[in-house]
Amino acid sequence: MADLRVNTAGISSPNPFWLASAPPTNTGDQIKRAFDAGWGGAVWKTLGEPIVNTWSRYSAVDLNGQKIMGLNNIELITDRPLHVNLREITEVKKQYPKHAVVVSLMVESKREAWHTIVKQAEDAGADGLELNFGCPHGMSERGMGAAVGQVPDYTCQITTWVKEVARTPVLVKLTPNITDVRYAARAAFNGGADGVSLINTINSITGIDLDTFAPRPTVAGKSSHGGYCGPAVKPIALNMVSAIATDPATAGKPISGIGGISTWRDAAEFILLGCTSVQVCTAVMHYGFRIVEDMIDGLSNYLDEKGLQTVYDLRGRSVERVRDWKELDLNYVVNASIDQDKCIGCGLCYTACNDGAHQAISAARADNGRTRVDVITDACVGCNLCSLVCPVNGCITMKQIPTDAGACSWEQHTGGTGKLAPRPQDKHFT
Ligand SMILES: Cc1cc2nc3c(=O)[nH]c(=O)nc-3n(C[C@H](O)[C@H](O)[C@H](O)COP(=O)(O)O)c2cc1C
Repeated sequence: MADLRVNTAGISSPNPFWLASAPPTNTGDQIKRAFDAGWGGAVWKTLGEPIVNTWSRYSAVDLNGQKIMGLNNIELITDRPLHVNLREITEVKKQYPKHAVVVSLMVESKREAWHTIVKQAEDAGADGLELNFGCPHGMSERGMGAAVGQVPDYTCQITTWVKEVARTPVLVKLTPNITDVRYAARAAFNGGADGVSLINTINSITGIDLDTFAPRPTVAGKSSHGGYCGPAVKPIALNMVSAIATDPATAGKPISGIGGISTWRDAAEFILLGCTSVQVCTAVMHYGFRIVEDMIDGLSNYLDEKGLQTVYDLRGRSVERVRDWKELDLNYVVNASIDQDKCIGCGLCYTACNDGAHQAISAARADNGRTRVDVITDACVGCNLCSLVCPVNGCITMKQIPTDAGACSWEQHTGGTGKLAPRPQDKHFT
């Protein structure tokens, strides 16, 4: 059996699955139940100055009957008294010495305030700290959260203050509400961070009630932009993780991946892009702590199947495959191929290709009265759209067409050192 133990920036945990700082980590009781269920670590709901939350605070986007493709919230940090959280951190740590108890922090941007909260969290028994520079609503209006994470100089400055007194590893949690996350990550590491975690939530308004005109979630007829998370944000998170993993200034540095993780497969993808641990919020808010059982089994079996002994054997293996567009092989040619035995004749591929892409699928009435679709090879540019819209798994696949021209990148092409193969998809331009 593969060894799932990991060490993220100096914080050890029995497996890479942590709860993200959010409602599932509100209380010591929840975190104990989560550890009993199998979670390897938990990032405590952000501690800071006393705040008050609105009552109505979550909203969601469903997709074709599937609930919570994306979750939005206007919740702030913990609204429980600091001394209660600190007492419970001590209790949890005592009972679960091998699990990772990371404490998320956010206070006003004053050196003394940060020094004080760091000491309190560490004295309570925190294994590590996570600086919340990502909360996109409420706290940012008060100069905290994303207001810090959006300015690299502030990120670096506050991380430096924290590192002046911290005895445990410090993760900086980054906001996705930024143009280029690499600057924020560099600033965090320049300030002495031991690792980064990302992403926090994405600015969003999930919808408007068409009868009352009130945006959701509605607080007495009004709303505020909130933070979006859940399955919908995973691609954005993966891209941001890969940006940091491929940046020469931060490559190889510890990353805790967050954003839309619900299954072991999601987790494996984050690990492949360089994460050591992953954090989960929405999936637990939706389905509860027990989802971790499948995550542990799934990742463990996957590593076994791949002949890998540890999470580190998987970590970062996709990083070198993320390249600039200009490095991609222009001689890589694929065409759509339709398995007529599987085709149900719905015609969706024809419509999508004809109206929305490259007019490379023909449709005709077959002898049996059904629609028969065929790929017009000379017009197909291998864009994948038909295979994406086809409702039958494995019916439309993309088949590689070998060329003998060898690989040719845009740089080689424009520099005159590479040869473009005569590509079937270019025929219709001539
Ligand atoms: C209701 C709610 C409250 C949250 N509160 C916090 C918080 O206090 N501190 C923090 O760093 N992140 C907070 N987050 C963000 C999550 O930790 C996480 O970064 C985000 O939800 C993305 O992960 P997910 O897609 O698994 O939900 C919160 C998220 C939600 C949905």
